[in-house]
Amino acid sequence: MGTSMYKQRFAYGEDYGTSQFKFGPLAERPQVIDNRGLFLSESKTLLRIYGIEKEVVVGPDVVKYLGSLEDVSRYLVYPMRDGLVDKSDERAWRVIEEVTRYGFIVSRPQARDFDGFYVTAALSAIAPDYMYERLFEIHAKLDEEGRFVKAVTIIPQPLAVAIAEKSVTCVVIESGHGNTQITPISAYPIRSAIVALNRGGAEADAMAAEILKDLGFGDRAREEKFVRMFKEAVGLVPRDLDEAIKVAKSSPERFRTVFRVPGTTLQIDLERNGWMRFLIGEIVFNPGHEVFESYYKRGMPRPKDTVVGETIVHGDTSLVEAIQVSLSRVSVELLPSLYNDFILSGGNFSWKVPKGLEDVAVDSAEKLRLELAKVGISSRVHLVSDPLYSVWKGAIVYSIALPEEVEWDWKTREGWYRRGVHY
Ligand SMILES: Nc1ncnc2c1ncn2[C@@H]1O[C@H](COP(=O)(O)OP(=O)(O)OP(=O)(O)O)[C@@H](O)[C@H]1O
Ligand SMILES: [Mg+2]
Repeated sequence: MGTSMYKQRFAYGEDYGTSQFKFGPLAERPQVIDNRGLFLSESKTLLRIYGIEKEVVVGPDVVKYLGSLEDVSRYLVYPMRDGLVDKSDERAWRVIEEVTRYGFIVSRPQARDFDGFYVTAALSAIAPDYMYERLFEIHAKLDEEGRFVKAVTIIPQPLAVAIAEKSVTCVVIESGHGNTQITPISAYPIRSAIVALNRGGAEADAMAAEILKDLGFGDRAREEKFVRMFKEAVGLVPRDLDEAIKVAKSSPERFRTVFRVPGTTLQIDLERNGWMRFLIGEIVFNPGHEVFESYYKRGMPRPKDTVVGETIVHGDTSLVEAIQVSLSRVSVELLPSLYNDFILSGGNFSWKVPKGLEDVAVDSAEKLRLELAKVGISSRVHLVSDPLYSVWKGAIVYSIALPEEVEWDWKTREGWYRRGVHY
C-alpha cells in the first residue's frame, strides 16, 4: 500500500482553541474537550479523597472533581489567552501536552498496520516560533510513548479555514472564544497584513454577565459555563443596533424570551428587557459603540489593544475598521478579489436568527456585509457551514494534501516534522 493511502487513512487534525481543543481523524465531526487541565496533585483535599492517580486531569473527568474543590481557579488551568500560550508558563504547557495525549489515546485506531498519525495542528496566525517548537517537542515525546505520531506539521488557523473552503484568494475572519484573526490570503496568508484582535466570544460573555447582573442573577453571572449558555441562547445580532433597540422597546413581547437552564428548574425571564439581547451580538462587531461605555465604566473589561507592525489597533476598534487596517497592507491589485470572498468562521460567528425576527436580527455574514457597505465596500461574505469545526476540517485536508516528502522548513513554515528525521 502506498504512503498516500496510509496518510489518508491516518490523517489527524488538531485545533488548539482558547476554550476548546478539537481533534481527531477523518470524520464528520472532530471530538471536542475543554482546553483546560485540573492539577489534581496540587490539591491536598483531592489527594486525600482520591489519592494520586494522575498529576493533571483533562477532558470530561475534570467535572467529577470540581465539586470537592473550594478554590477551583487555583488548580484549574486554561493554558491559552487570546489563542497564545506564554513561553515560560510551564503549567500551561503541561496542559497542552495532556490534552494532546488525551486526543491520541482516545483516537488510537485498531488497525494492525497503524504506525502513527499524520498530524496537522492548527495554531493562531500570530503564534510565535516558540509555540511551534514546543508543540513539535510534545508530539515527539508522545510518539516515543505510544507511536502516535509518524509526522506532524503546523499551520495557521485561518489557512486551515481557507483550505476547508477550497478558496485560494480570500479574507478569512476567524473568531473564537479568545481571539479574532483577520487574515487576507492569496494562496498563503499575507503575514504582514494579519490583524489579530484580543477579543472573541469572551467579550460577548462579559456583556451577557452584565445583563444577568441587571436581571438580578449576579451570583450566577460568576459561573462561566452558565453565562455562556445564556449568551448563546438569548444573544442576537442586530441589523442596526439603534433601530433594533427602538423596535424591541416598543414591542417587547416579540423579543421576550425565557432561558431555561438545562437540567434544572431555574429560568430567567427577560420580560420587557428583550432589547438587551442585541447588546450581546453587537459587541462582537462594534465594541466601541457608545452604548457600551456605561458598562465599561462600571467594570466590564475593555478588550486589550493589539500592535500590528507599527500601528496600534485599539481593543474596541470595530471589526470593519480592523479589516480596513488589514486590507491597507495588501496590494491594491488584490483587493477586488479579496472583497469578493470574505469567509467567516469560529464559534463567535454562530449567531442564529430566530423565526419572525428577520426584520431586525441578522446572521454574522449579513451583519458584516452591511457594515462593510457603510464604509463603501461592496462585498461577498459567507459563513462556513460548520463554524466551530472548519479549522479542524482544514487541518485534516492539509494532512492528506501535503506531500509525504516535503520536510519541515522554518523559513516557509511548511512541511513534515517527522519520526526518524527530526525525532
Ligand atoms: N450558537 C452560538 N452563538 C453564539 N456564540 C457561540 C455559539 N456557539 C459557540 N459560540 C461561542 O463561540 C466561542 C467558542 O468558539 P471556538 O470554539 O471557535 O473558540 P476557540 O477555538 O476555543 O477559541 P480561539 O479560536 O479564540 O482560540 C465561545 O465563546 C462560544 O460561546
Ligand atoms: Mg479557535
